Amino acid sequence: MKRVYIETYGCQMNVADTEVVLGVLKAHDYEQTESPEDADTILVNTCAVRDNAEQRVIGRVGELQRYKRPGNVLGVIGCMAQRLGPRLLAAVKQVDVVLGPDAYRNLPNLLENAARGERAIDTGFRSWEHYEDVVALRERGPTAFVTVQRGCDYRCTFCIVPMTRGPERSQKLEDIVTKIEDLAREGTTEITLLGQTVNAYHDGVHDFADLLRAVGAVDGIRRVRFTSPYPNNFTERAVAAMAETPAVCDHVHLPVQSGSNAVLRRMLRRYTREQYLAVMDRLRLAIPGITFSTDIIVGFPGETESQFGETLTLVEDAGFDDAYTFKYSPREATPAVRLQGQVPEAVATERLARLIATVRSQTRRRNVGRLGSLHEVLVERPAKRGDQMLGRTRSNLMVLLELPSSSVGTYHQVRLTGTTGSTFVGRIESPSLAVI
Ligand code: 5AD
Repeated sequence: MKRVYIETYGCQMNVADTEVVLGVLKAHDYEQTESPEDADTILVNTCAVRDNAEQRVIGRVGELQRYKRPGNVLGVIGCMAQRLGPRLLAAVKQVDVVLGPDAYRNLPNLLENAARGERAIDTGFRSWEHYEDVVALRERGPTAFVTVQRGCDYRCTFCIVPMTRGPERSQKLEDIVTKIEDLAREGTTEITLLGQTVNAYHDGVHDFADLLRAVGAVDGIRRVRFTSPYPNNFTERAVAAMAETPAVCDHVHLPVQSGSNAVLRRMLRRYTREQYLAVMDRLRLAIPGITFSTDIIVGFPGETESQFGETLTLVEDAGFDDAYTFKYSPREATPAVRLQGQVPEAVATERLARLIATVRSQTRRRNVGRLGSLHEVLVERPAKRGDQMLGRTRSNLMVLLELPSSSVGTYHQVRLTGTTGSTFVGRIESPSLAVI
């Protein structure tokens, strides 16, 4: 047996891709190790979405190369590998293999060559690739990510993903359902469907509405989540499927990026602020109690103070329950790098701080208003500190509970009794059946 150590950076799809990579390698006599000292193969699965994500990886590769003994292999895979390709091999001489997200089937082959001293790159796009026959290697648990769509055909001007993950394609509904039936048999009860514009899912026969209904009907699946949808792609059929499928959770992560129509236009987002808010209204009407989180970029080229102000007012108008906030990071070869009026770093930093303060105070206010309410909570894992467990409501609120670690996977009716502003403390009112 060969031993592989892998670190994963970036989004949930990268987490799911790492499980695929480990599945591919397991079929070639590799076992996973938790420490780089024990490994003869070290892999880093990378993100390219912002420069700081790449800088972290570069730093980490520098550290990991110290564990490399003669005959061992160091590989960089994922989006940053796809983006830099040969430049990565040229820049870091300890790196032996560079593989993009569509090339993981080729990994055993290239690792073997690399062990004999042959450095190699595979950054070919395979527009058919879904890894549908690969048995992903994941830790057994109540929740699982399932990639249903890969790549992206949108052309948001700030975004590197179309260049790192290639063209959009959806996996066949039947293959997805089979995979989820297997997961359910192993005790998974919550599924998160993954795609860059996941609600644009279409396999040629079935659309996103069909997918939600089919996954929600799998025996044993109690919760269905998805990320990330695109505002324009919520058809009436999709909204109806969400409302009518009991397993679909009451939370949507819906990236808005900016509250200014002028900025949205320059970003090549295909909606206005008003249209975005109208989508939220439709979802709130169909799914009472639904919560929303979002992604927001500040300091996009040409963003004026008053346009940034529109983002601040949008946070309030939309009533987001949470927001992931980012400073615009120029990505090589994306259209936005050529736009006039790059915003000075200090200005973007200051705007980000104001945005974070606005989001935090709103989240706190909304969460304080939730104290005393009753929710179904799935226990996910031990909390970082203390001997409490961390669970999640259907509406995506995180709740700390006094429960033993054996409670992972169980569902409870929980009263929210306290909040830090972002997470809650809860009291169990009645446990429901343990499912794992
Ligand atoms: N700079 C800053 N943030 C970005 N994102 C994507 N590209 C960039 C970039 N160039 C953010 C978007 C997206 C999230 C995953 O990352 O908000 O929704």
